[in-house]
This record gives sequence, C-alpha cells and structure tokens, in this order.
Amino acid sequence: SGQVKLAVIPGDGIGQEVTVEALKVLDVVAGKAGVKFDKTQYDLGAENYLRTKDVLPVSVLAELKQQDAILLGAVGGKPNDPNLPPGILERGLLLKIRFELDHYVNLRPSRIYPGSVSPLASPGEVDFVVVREGTEGPYTGNGGALRVGTPAEVATEVSVNTAFGVERVVRDAFARAQRRPRKHLTLVHKTNVLVNAGSVWWRLFETVAAEYPEVTTDYMHIDAAMIHMTTNPSRFDVIVTDNLFGDIITDLAAAISGGIGLAASGNINPDRTAPSMFEPVHGSAPDIAGQQIADPTAAILSVALMLDHLGHSDAAASVDAAVLADLEARTPDTKRSTAEVGDAIAALLG
Ligand code: NAD
Ligand code: IPM
Ligand code: MN
Repeated sequence: SGQVKLAVIPGDGIGQEVTVEALKVLDVVAGKAGVKFDKTQYDLGAENYLRTKDVLPVSVLAELKQQDAILLGAVGGKPNDPNLPPGILERGLLLKIRFELDHYVNLRPSRIYPGSVSPLASPGEVDFVVVREGTEGPYTGNGGALRVGTPAEVATEVSVNTAFGVERVVRDAFARAQRRPRKHLTLVHKTNVLVNAGSVWWRLFETVAAEYPEVTTDYMHIDAAMIHMTTNPSRFDVIVTDNLFGDIITDLAAAISGGIGLAASGNINPDRTAPSMFEPVHGSAPDIAGQQIADPTAAILSVALMLDHLGHSDAAASVDAAVLADLEARTPDTKRSTAEVGDAIAALLG
C-alpha cells in the first residue's frame, strides 16, 4: 500500500549515525516511489536504559507489534560499563524483539559487488545468502549457573531445537533456493558432535529436500564450512544454519565480501503475523562511535531489504543500484564521512 507505519530504533553508538543516513536514502526513494512512511522513533538502547532502568517497556513492545516494519541501527553500550550488565540490551531488547515478533528467518545476503574490496586475493564471484534461524538454538536463555564464583562453578547454555522451529526455517531456505538461479542449498551444522540437535536438523533437511527435486543440496560441518568460505566462497548459494553458527558465519561472510560496513540483514517473520525488522549485521562499534567514520552502507542496504519485503521491489532495486554505483566510484583512499556516503547514495537516487 502507499502508507507504511515504520518504527525506527537508532539505538547506540554508530547505530545512531548510520540510521540518519538510512533514513536520508529512504526519504528520497520513498518520495520517488510515492510511498509514504509514517515514522515513529523509539529511543531505546544503552542511554535510555541507564536513564530509565527499563530496557523495553511492555507498552513499547506492544506498539512495535502494530507497525508495518522496524528499522534498527544497533544496540550496545560501552564495554565493561559497571552500570550495564552484560547482555542486558542484547537479550532484553534485540533478542526480545526477534523472539516476540517471531523473526525466525534471519536473512543475511553476501555479495562481492564490483567495487567492493575483499581481503581474499581471488575470491571469484560471491553471491550467497545465509538463512540463519532466529528464535531458537543457544540464544533462548535456557541455561543457568551453579555455585557462581567458586571453583565448583558450572555454567550451561542449552541449545533449543524444536522440530517446529527447525522445519519452518528449513522450508523457508528451500523455497528461497528454488527461486534463485543456481538452486543450491547447504546445511551447516556440527552433526558429528551436537548429535541431538544435529539429527533434528539433518532429518528435517532431508525430508524437505524430497519436496524440492530441483534444489541441489550439500552438508558441511561448521568448521569445514569456514575453510570453504575463505578458500572458495563461490560455491555457496543459500546456507541454512542455526542461530549461533549463523551469527558467526555472517560476520566472516561480511569480512570476505567487502567488510562489515556493507552487510545488511532482515529479521523476517515470513508468516507476517508481526512486523519484520531490518538492521545492519554490525553492532554499535564503541571503538569508532561519534567520529562520523562508520560506513552507513549496511544500514542503507537494510532499507533495500525492507522495501523488498514490503513489496516495493523496484524501489529496493534502485537503492541497490545506487549503492553499487557508489561502490564502483570508491577507491582505497576515498575518505568520506558517514554523512558524505549517505549524501552520495541519496544523490545517485535523485
Ligand atoms: P561491532 O560490529 O560493533 O564492531 C566490530 C568491529 O567492526 C569494530 O572494530 C567496529 O569499529 C567495526 N565496524 C562495525 N560496523 C562498522 C561500520 N559500519 N563501519 C566501519 N566499521 C565498522 O561488534 P562488537 O564490537 O563486537 O560489538 C559492539 C556492541 O554492539 C556490543 O555491545 C554488541 O553486543 C553490540 N552488537 C549489536 C548488534 C545489533 O544491535 N544488531 C550487532 C552486533 C553487536
Ligand atoms: C547480530 C548480533 C546479535 C546476535 C547480538 C548483539 C545479540 O551479534 O545481530 O549478529 O548475536 O544475533
Ligand atoms: Mn553478530
């Protein structure tokens, strides 16, 4: 439709800086496409928590559920702040939203664009997408600690893998592979050690594969997958994997395909029972925050993923094209501020 309710959560550190640029680009492309974004900004994150001692008020969560989409910068405070318990924002805000809004597909595409600089000497063509499970695995907070601080301390983080949760993400990955030219899907896990979780993933992967005869499949253990991703990333088309493996893989995928500053993501609720959330793969980067040197491209490409999800595929393609043109014009010694990159991409759209 022509009217989209959009929640914007700039968050912390460079999250705030890159979100300004993402919105700058969104305003231009939405204007051209005749789509009106009705934006509500939410000041959530470390500063808000330190001020209010509330990470995500119930009323705000309820409001978020009423939106059509959410755009997030990044959350995370300064490392080792004694007033900021570890994980409080990550678990209480980011993962809370992903779980409550049932973002079971965490979609993370990686492409080497002409103009992006890979640290690999000869990476070849790279264009793959990681379908990372988003609501289960070791992220559920299903664990505990005994005798904390004593030599007899025991800490557990239990990985939760339900047949329901695994099957739905595997199905989504097969459907995506089927729609892509190469139609190839790789399951990444550690079935040789994590035998309980591994058997659910393997069995459901095989079961769903039978319904997609055109999709070729393979399997890699997570450790070997990291070898292939650095030595021959061209072999990947779609990768499906669990929440923690997917987190780790996608930072490597970002690094080999031009840097974390280019890596976009969508936390997708494919059933559309709640809004999906779009955000760069990177975090709040306290080491460079406030300096206007963060690359906003990942946040801008996340806008493209959002437009695509909302059915505005032409607008999404025009953002991609503008980013591509900007990347082609970059040279290793191009030094631009965060705002200058946003301005350049916005200008290429206009
Ligand atoms: P990070 O992604 O913030 O930073 C890792 C490295 O990449 C840093 O050296 C940083 O300067 C660099 N970097 C990241 N984004 C960049 C960009 N756009 N342009 C240029 N350089 C960039 O990861 P971290 O340091 O491990 O985490 C910092 C905080 O962010 C933590 O609190 C973490 O929990 C949080 N975090 C949040 C999200 C999120 O909100 N989605 C994602 C990852 C990490
Ligand atoms: C990411 C981040 C998050 C994750 C953290 C901050 C909870 O690293 O989006 O990749 O692990 O999913
Ligand atoms: Mn991560």
